[in-house]
Amino acid sequence: MSRYEEFYRQSVDAPEAFWAEQARLIDWKTPPTQVLDASRPPFARWFVDGTTNLCHNAVDRHLAARGDQPALIFVSTETGTEKTYSFRELHAEVQRTAASLIALGVAKGDRVLIYMPMVPEAAFAMLACARIGAIHCVVFGGFASGSLAARIEDAEPKVVVSADAGSRGGKVIAYKPLLDEAIRISKHKPPAVLLTDRGLAPMALTAGRDHLAAELNLKHGGTEVPCTWLAATGISYTIYTSGTTGKPKGVQRDVGGYAVALAASMKHIFDGRPGETYFSTSDIGWVVGHSYIVYGPLIGGMATLMYEGLPTQGIDKQPDGGIWWRLVEKYKVTVMFSAPTAVRVLKKQDPALLKKYDLSSLRALFLAGEPLDEPTARWIAGGLGVPIIDNYWQTESGWPIITIANGVEQKPSKFGSPGVPMYGFRVKILHESTGEELTGANEKGVVVIEGPTPPGFMQTVWKDDKRFVDSYWKSIPGKMVYSTFDWGIRDEDGYFYILGRTDDVINVAGHRLGTREIEESISGHAGVAEVAVVGVADALKGQVAMAFVVPRDGGAVTNAGAALKLEGEIMKVVADQLGALARPARVRFVNGLPKTRSGKLLRRAIQAVCEQRDPGDLTTIDDPATLQQIKQLLSSD
Ligand code: PRX
Repeated sequence: MSRYEEFYRQSVDAPEAFWAEQARLIDWKTPPTQVLDASRPPFARWFVDGTTNLCHNAVDRHLAARGDQPALIFVSTETGTEKTYSFRELHAEVQRTAASLIALGVAKGDRVLIYMPMVPEAAFAMLACARIGAIHCVVFGGFASGSLAARIEDAEPKVVVSADAGSRGGKVIAYKPLLDEAIRISKHKPPAVLLTDRGLAPMALTAGRDHLAAELNLKHGGTEVPCTWLAATGISYTIYTSGTTGKPKGVQRDVGGYAVALAASMKHIFDGRPGETYFSTSDIGWVVGHSYIVYGPLIGGMATLMYEGLPTQGIDKQPDGGIWWRLVEKYKVTVMFSAPTAVRVLKKQDPALLKKYDLSSLRALFLAGEPLDEPTARWIAGGLGVPIIDNYWQTESGWPIITIANGVEQKPSKFGSPGVPMYGFRVKILHESTGEELTGANEKGVVVIEGPTPPGFMQTVWKDDKRFVDSYWKSIPGKMVYSTFDWGIRDEDGYFYILGRTDDVINVAGHRLGTREIEESISGHAGVAEVAVVGVADALKGQVAMAFVVPRDGGAVTNAGAALKLEGEIMKVVADQLGALARPARVRFVNGLPKTRSGKLLRRAIQAVCEQRDPGDLTTIDDPATLQQIKQLLSSD
């Protein structure tokens, strides 16, 4: 047995002993005596009687050994800012923010919704919540009012933390008007809003509700706010993610299990060491930002590099396709984390940029969020000369499910495969309709995880245990297993390959979006009778959304001018409600949508036609002319 196989076996054969050992990687106020309570499957409760605090583990516990070492390095090529906070400075900032939140009435268990661009204040707010036991709900800054309002309603926050604006490619995106609109349409009205003014866009303040962070900070300059010790099984945060329905799910995470899972992953998977620098190019609005911009590196005693901007612009705001490599050299980054899409963008830059900087500090580049295609992997592997490690996971899991545990054993990677199941995850491939386990090499089925799920995994869906059980654990007939809703195969050496989603989730530039949410938004336009949105393969973004609309008035089908106008209006509706990310690449107008005789939309057939693949068995289609029309439309491009 290889070293990793042995490690893995211990984790699944004797999970309690295995995780009790991992639990020693963090500080506890009360060390747990009961490691796992799996008495109510599929719920798994870890470190049941332990008490700890995420902020203590990320910040306070490093003060003695590395108080003056860098903790948070902020680089914005949008505003030309570069600033380093030591652990001691971060400690002070977090306490200031915690004091401000307390002054605004936030107590343990209250929700604080964070709608922020990539600025240090966002990380301060997350850590401040963790410090006082408030539950943070970070909403991606690229989302617009409709998406934000749905999340405000579900989270019912006491305070919303936001800013005047973000910026992308030099273009200022005002957040405050989007937030005001979201609060206007939301049934829940947060009593207070805490705003960072970056001086990018004017803000209209609502008296009695809106507070400027700078003013509160002045009042709470030197305030000490001790960490509140929390039950390991308490709630640290929720993060919304898309599924099959139009309503996003609040993925709920615990305190102690998450801290242990992250500390273990820093050691066994990322091989990042205290005092070094970790650079993840993700955004705090996504799970990668939670686990590997904010909590993971800091818990591991590393400095985390937080980056605002495009990968192709320099700190002087001039084009610079080498900015990330410049930062790797400057801050001696040892572990880097990004997404295949970002690498595909960089691939268009001058390859000499990869040779221009001293990248000798870098030990590995981890890529996740979407399939890593072989040409992209080969290009970046050749350019950097370090292992490129694909890792497969989900918002739900909180940390990698399938990858290579570099810190345990540097197993070889295989192109196209993220690797092997990580310790703690019992990953299986099941037949989607019979539920039978597929053990043969290269047999395609649904990738599932058998309970109990490891520490760090979602506890439940916020306020909705039933939805957690019904949507994730009951989709395979006859088996209570967690479905990832991804297709996969395993080869003869036990390496897994992920083959795309089984549900209506699409992945645009590594961002997970629900086609149902986009459809609901498009249906809101008065000119739309029916709509189907599908994800279509795209060379740069992995997938893009394509919308097929049956207009109320047939004009848009036959008249190019009318089509162009309606397409523009529909795009605007989606951008205004959900955000630019969700805007379809194209809106096409048709007389009808392909459906089964029982009225079920044949999304997969539409998608196949868009990707010039065989749409498969069409015996159940009600009106074949609908698919024919789509084919013709696409071929006339
Ligand atoms: O379909 C899989 C795809 O992204 C989904 C999870 O997205 P999200 O919840 O945003 O979490 C991202 C955390 C990295 C998965 O169900 N996915 C993620 N990583 C990979 C992937 N598909 C193929 N290869 C990957 N490495």
